[in-house]
Amino acid sequence: MSVRTEQTSGIRSLIANGEETGNNEKYRRMYDRIAPFYNLSNKAYFRLKFGGEAAYRMQFLSELEIPDGGRVLEVSCGTGDNFPYLPRNIDLHGLDLSLGMLKVCRRHLRKWKRSASLYHASAECLPFEDEMFDTVFHVGGINFFNDGAKAVQEMIRVAKSDTKIVIVDETEKLASGTYEKIPFVGSRFKDRGSEVRIPVHLVPEGMENIEAKEICGGLMYVLSFRVPKNEGGAGTETKTVYK
Ligand SMILES: C[S@@+](CC[C@H](N)C(=O)[O-])C[C@H]1O[C@@H](n2cnc3c(N)ncnc32)[C@H](O)[C@@H]1O
Repeated sequence: MSVRTEQTSGIRSLIANGEETGNNEKYRRMYDRIAPFYNLSNKAYFRLKFGGEAAYRMQFLSELEIPDGGRVLEVSCGTGDNFPYLPRNIDLHGLDLSLGMLKVCRRHLRKWKRSASLYHASAECLPFEDEMFDTVFHVGGINFFNDGAKAVQEMIRVAKSDTKIVIVDETEKLASGTYEKIPFVGSRFKDRGSEVRIPVHLVPEGMENIEAKEICGGLMYVLSFRVPKNEGGAGTETKTVYK
């Protein structure tokens, strides 16, 4: 693994060779480019479609189980727009493949007077020890990851036993009905190959309480499941660590 660290930015970077290929590279480039406009355009869309950003985000954030003072990880946190809706008394960690999105996130954190540890890394290779987090969730990228199954395994590995893992992304309705039609980025979604389906097939055997449902008028889905008690997650190896 080749490791690049960015010391100056307050964002820890750990990218392995091979992670910036295929879809990961394609979408990382796209998010780097749209990072400065991501929030403004989203906010307008959420207001129009759902009556506001809070109304949109609470449809899935209400699924999270966050213990008092718990250690929380958002995989693919982007510009951190879920953070304001999380309790303040938590140990918050956000990871994303786009440094552009993370830099905007860092600015947001200052504006919101919140703190979070930020990591520039891939969802498929999380730079954390096994069983570190009380809450693990992901919003908005897994449909097009290079390796969604690996990302799910990684979320399980870093979650403590009995943790509910929550995964959210767009449905085919939103991908083909809206994303494909957005100027400049639409083409990236048009050549995505197969139709989006809720990735229940990525949840490995042994996970409990697997639930999948559409939310936001069928435009998004929530997939959730629980890591079994006392089995220490499903991972097999311990990775390079930020504690
Ligand atoms: C639609 S945005 C969602 C951002 C944020 N979660 C939200 O709810 O606003 C998707 C994010 O997934 C990130 N992403 C894409 N592929 C990734 C990967 N393989 N590993 C980690 N993050 C990835 C993108 O850089 C982008 O920030």
